[in-house]
Amino acid sequence: MKTWIVTGGAGFIGSNFILMHRRRGAARIINLDKLTYAGNLANLEDLRGDAGYQFVRGDVADRALVGALLREHRPDAVIHLAAESHVDRSIQEPGAFIRTNVVGTFCLLDEVLGYWRELPGGRQEAFRFLHVSTDEVYGSLGPEEPPFTEDSPHRPNSPYAASKAGSDHLVRAYNRTYGLPTLTTNCSNNYGPYQFPEKLIPLMTINALAGKPLPIYGDGGNVRDWLFVEDHCEALAAVLEAGRPGETYNVGGRCELANLELVRTLCRLLDQARPDSPHVPHELFITFVPDRPGHDRRYATDCTRIGTELGWRPRESFQSGLEKTLRWYMEHGEWVDSVQSGEYTEWIGRQYGTQ
Ligand code: NAD
Ligand code: DAU
Repeated sequence: MKTWIVTGGAGFIGSNFILMHRRRGAARIINLDKLTYAGNLANLEDLRGDAGYQFVRGDVADRALVGALLREHRPDAVIHLAAESHVDRSIQEPGAFIRTNVVGTFCLLDEVLGYWRELPGGRQEAFRFLHVSTDEVYGSLGPEEPPFTEDSPHRPNSPYAASKAGSDHLVRAYNRTYGLPTLTTNCSNNYGPYQFPEKLIPLMTINALAGKPLPIYGDGGNVRDWLFVEDHCEALAAVLEAGRPGETYNVGGRCELANLELVRTLCRLLDQARPDSPHVPHELFITFVPDRPGHDRRYATDCTRIGTELGWRPRESFQSGLEKTLRWYMEHGEWVDSVQSGEYTEWIGRQYGTQ
């Protein structure tokens, strides 16, 4: 059986990825995660007792630890998801984004390069470093512009996007300079179970259910391209399996929605799911708040390459994916309560003022 080291596997996408691929027995998985506020081992509770899964708490920037893990587990692939991932936090405190997303990715890449160089021929050829990145590196689109392709220039506008663009460039350089067999994916906005409620969909869901304000930045006309997280995890597996080393692949939902439209849809679904709630119609809790500085107006991703080369396309429609997601949050009150810790409350207070 193959062995994968997954970084950031206790976060939103990482835990969905590990759960999906352990369920399928795709590989033995070692999860290296620092457990920042966004990392949560409760996400991986279903893997208790699974001999094919191991958790290691640590920082991707800890070269000694990373080197030791590589030599101990001799992975066939490293799937790099660990990152600081929230744009608003990058505006308040960019330093952590540079440390993890840029320096951390460099440390990981450099240790992986040393390990890869010592592998015997066949294993060296088959090895892959999969870097999980974002469509935000491409910047912002006007209303009539075509979606981002893999050839769109990097024009990041937030410290988060800039730090991810920096990591993309390092990954590219390690492929072009040293021949490390890297793959990069640039994905659009994910949603689904286990997403930390600082991001739009879980924040709005949890606030709406509790009858709290639903804070829309600016005029609510900013557009995002939404993808159900399991479709992203399938795309990562497809790229890992058959992607061309040195290449990048865009991943997206072909589902562009303005924030206000999305939140109204979410409220309507909650009205149907909880008709007896005193907070119906949930839409009444929508409030407009000052805009995010440097707020990208529109993202849209052209996924032609991954579709034609690897046969990937999203399975979930936005309606079905959102219904599943809302149901998950309604059925996992304990998870929601557990992540709304002191740190979370402080963050909400700092970001939105009194709530
Ligand atoms: P997340 O914030 O939910 O999880 C990040 C995980 O990384 C956490 O478990 C955290 O503890 C861990 N981590 C942070 N710093 C670390 C470090 N220095 N060493 C080891 N672990 C560390 O993020 P997510 O939404 O699951 O995103 C995962 C990856 O996918 C990120 O690289 C992100 O840029 C990318 N991405 C996310 C989306 C999205 O919509 N969420 C879309 C495209 C790409
Ligand atoms: O595009 C991929 C990116 O999507 C990922 O790389 C990031 O890790 C992920 O966080 C996400 O970034 P966004 O900034 O697009 O996601 P967020 O959920 O923070 O915001 C989505 C949109 O909703 C954005 O236009 C800002 C708006 N928004 C967000 C919050 C939290 C609001 O209007 N109000 C809010 O309270």
